Amino acid sequence: MSEKRYRIVLLPGDGIGPEVVRAGRRLIEAVARTCGHEVEFEERLIGGAAIDARGEPLPGETVEAARRADAVLLGAVGGPKWDGLGGDRRPEAGLLGIRKALGAYANLRPVRAWAPLLTASTLRPEAVEGVDLLIVRELTGGLYFGKKRRERENGHTRVVDEMVYTTPEIERIVRLGFEAARKAGKSLTSVDKANVLESSRHWREVVERVAAEYPDVPYTHMLVDNCAMQLVRDPRRFGVIVTENMFGDILSDEAAVLTGSIGMLPSASLGEGPGLYEPVHGSAPDIAGRGAANPLGTMLSVALMYQFSLDEPAVSSAIVDAVDRVLGEGFRTADLARPGDRVCGTEEMTGAVLERLRLT
Ligand code: NAD
Ligand code: IPM
Ligand code: MN
Repeated sequence: MSEKRYRIVLLPGDGIGPEVVRAGRRLIEAVARTCGHEVEFEERLIGGAAIDARGEPLPGETVEAARRADAVLLGAVGGPKWDGLGGDRRPEAGLLGIRKALGAYANLRPVRAWAPLLTASTLRPEAVEGVDLLIVRELTGGLYFGKKRRERENGHTRVVDEMVYTTPEIERIVRLGFEAARKAGKSLTSVDKANVLESSRHWREVVERVAAEYPDVPYTHMLVDNCAMQLVRDPRRFGVIVTENMFGDILSDEAAVLTGSIGMLPSASLGEGPGLYEPVHGSAPDIAGRGAANPLGTMLSVALMYQFSLDEPAVSSAIVDAVDRVLGEGFRTADLARPGDRVCGTEEMTGAVLERLRLT
């Protein structure tokens, strides 16, 4: 029995956020019981839930609690109820704000084709079999954080979203990409739009410079439109993909199709403060409140939490193995089900993973 004590902040958010965070919490509790960890949970408001209760998407107390945590688990934010609100007052501003407040500039989004799910993808099984790639998405710069303006000009509306990157911002994420590729013994693909964007041309220069420090890591540049196509045409060619904020957002939802469902994708957002762990999917308003959400993206985010923030790599692997077993035995939430499959809900899927957790 270890004496470890963890403080975990839970940010359930909106829509299916609370449903999947409950699954994550059950998983952390099960691990704590078996391994003898003490866990202190603090639940805080973010997104639409925070707007409704406090009038703002990211209350100060949420940021303070997150900064004191060993790790933060976030569900999802947003939904039709708040879609009319302006930029800074939207639920999504809470998510961007917590990422910035934690200095979480590196968003790791692993994508793997689970053998039992090969037929759950809308792509052909032979096209996705063996896929095991990592998207390293820059998370605190680019279009998301540039100046935004809406003004009147000659009787029309004129809108501006600035795309800003500095050399150090590019350098640190590119270096992290090279490190990840070296560790995994894989190649690096740097994705940009250097044929059009100044920010991408500088991105390429920085990649060239950093690459000189990693002569053992094969790398290529790829334009983002081609990358979107190659991801579904020949996904096995990719090892680690490093890219800026917006391209990474779009490519990761596309890559989710390789796994069978966006509900399968976990993420870790790392940087200066505590790690922030979130499934890649959103609040899924179309299925919220029905107990139907796939909890595996969140449970796999908890696996990343044990790997990167809690220094328990064996727990992390045990969670991944349990998910693999559950899928192998045919458990399917609706998003993964094919005609004729028995469909289970969030709770049943969560329970099935917990029952199959083998922690020594
Ligand atoms: P979404 O990811 O919420 O949903 C897209 C589709 O995938 C929907 O059909 C949904 O039912 C399905 N889906 C998503 N997660 C699932 C899960 N775990 N299990 C089963 N099915 C799942 O994307 P959207 O509909 O474009 O966005 C809805 C809201 O979520 C928007 O307000 C958006 O801003 C927000 N959003 C938040 C985050 C986040 O908090 N990290 C991420 C993406 C979108
Ligand atoms: C994600 C989401 C967010 C993003 C939104 C909700 C701000 O799509 O985490 O992928 O674009 O980063
Ligand atoms: Mn997204």
